[in-house]
Parts: sequence; C-alpha cells; structure tokens
Amino acid sequence: MSGGSEGLLEVDDVSAGYLGEDVIHDISFSVAEGEAVAIIGSNGAGKSTLFRAIVSMLTPSGGAIRFDGRDITSTGTHRIARAGLAYVPAERHLFPAMSVTENLVLGAFPRRPDPAVQSNVFEIFPRLAERRSQAAGTLSGGEQQMLAVGRALMSKPKLLMLDEPTTGLAPLLAAEAYRALARLRDSGLTLVVAEQQVPLALELAERGHVMEQGRLGFSGTSDELAGNPEVQRAYLGVT
Ligand SMILES: Nc1ncnc2c1ncn2[C@@H]1O[C@H](COP(=O)(O)OP(=O)(O)O)[C@@H](O)[C@H]1O
Ligand SMILES: [Mg+2]
Repeated sequence: MSGGSEGLLEVDDVSAGYLGEDVIHDISFSVAEGEAVAIIGSNGAGKSTLFRAIVSMLTPSGGAIRFDGRDITSTGTHRIARAGLAYVPAERHLFPAMSVTENLVLGAFPRRPDPAVQSNVFEIFPRLAERRSQAAGTLSGGEQQMLAVGRALMSKPKLLMLDEPTTGLAPLLAAEAYRALARLRDSGLTLVVAEQQVPLALELAERGHVMEQGRLGFSGTSDELAGNPEVQRAYLGVT
C-alpha cells in the first residue's frame, strides 16, 4: 500500500444517484487495512447506492474514491475487482444452472482459480464442499449466500464489501453467515458490510456509520453505536 496513513479505502465527499438526481450526498469515510466497518441504515437509506458508486456501477456526480493508494472513481467494475475490491450484492447474482464449483471458478475470472483458495472456501463453508456438484439454483438461501461470499473470495480480494448478507435468511442462518464473516475478519481480511440487522453488524465490526436519507450521520465504535440512544431507538427496538 502506498501513502502512509491513507486507508485501504477512502471515500471522499461522494454523491450519486439515478437519472441525474442524487440520493446519496457528500459521503466520506475510510477503512483501514484489516478493519471491519459497518454501514447501518434502514431500507432506502442509500446503502446499496453507496456501494454501487464505490464499485463504479454508478458514476458519482461528485467526490472521489481511492482504493489501495489509487484513484478508482468511475474506473469500471471489472478493473476495481481486479485491483482487489470484491463486492457481494444483496441479490447475489449467482449462475443458477451452474454448479457450486463452476460458480467458484468464475469468481476467479479472468485469472485461473487458485486450488488453495478454493480449498480454503470449502474449509470455511463445509456445506459448499458437500454440495460442490449441485446447481447453485437448488441451494438454500443461506447456502447461496455462502456461495456468493465464496465466489468473491476466489478473486483473492484485499477488501470484501457485502451488501446486506442476511437478505432473505432466517435468523439462525443469518447468525451463521455472520460467524463465517467473523472468521474472515479474524484471518485479516478487510470488510465493509451494509446492514439493517444492526446487532449482527456491530458484533462483526469494530466501527460503524449510521446512514440516513442518503447521508452518513452518527459514527463511532461498535460499542458507542450500540450504546447510542438514537441508534437503539431506530434499529435495536429499544424504546
Ligand atoms: N435503480 C434505481 N433507480 C432509481 N432509484 C433507485 C434505484 N435504486 C435505489 N433507488 C432509490 O435510492 C434510494 C436509496 O436506495 P438504496 O440505495 O437501495 O437504499 P438501501 O440499500 O439503504 O435500502 C431510495 O430512495 C431508492 O428508492
Ligand atoms: Mg440495499
């Protein structure tokens, strides 16, 4: 990494939206190497829009994004992935007719899959190993989430960005998905996670930012966020 104190990911004053109208405004935050950071916010807050702007699926109307010492603003989603920023959208975008293994292999594209990384994915997600020949479309929701994460890992990312990894998962499976993410965090992988399920996200992350109506508001350590009365009121069901 170049540039002394610069974070692995630097989002600087980014605004973006759809059809010429911004829905996220002047977003700034940074993520240091090895850190896990949560972006928490309710439905419609702008979390997915922020992630799409970071990976160039949307062109920001203003601001800049730096990753690993380089300006990646509007660089193109594939080049950003090759630079080591992997993104798992809430919709997962698996190839349903292809097997688990084939989906994993595509995650390494355009490189050849690294057998050591694939073994590591199967070690983290033994359920995927058991179902390696099964079509992705026949997996349960929880298994599809594991596969989406596993596929992202195949690109050997420096940073993994996950948009609401608990989407469509029953509580037990959501907790299981987060246990796997905690293992990835403990292995040193940098994580950014967007989440409405605040307790899970704050358990995983060291720090978080609250997103509301397209803006980042309260920021702090996970303990500070969990103890903040406004966060409790809005997200943790405490009155
Ligand atoms: N493809 C789209 N076209 C137009 N507006 C969109 C699109 N996706 C999201 N929006 C709008 O942008 C705002 C933020 O949405 P989103 O980023 O999906 O929030 P979140 O991920 O936090 O639920 C919402 O008002 C939503 O209706
Ligand atoms: Mg979203």
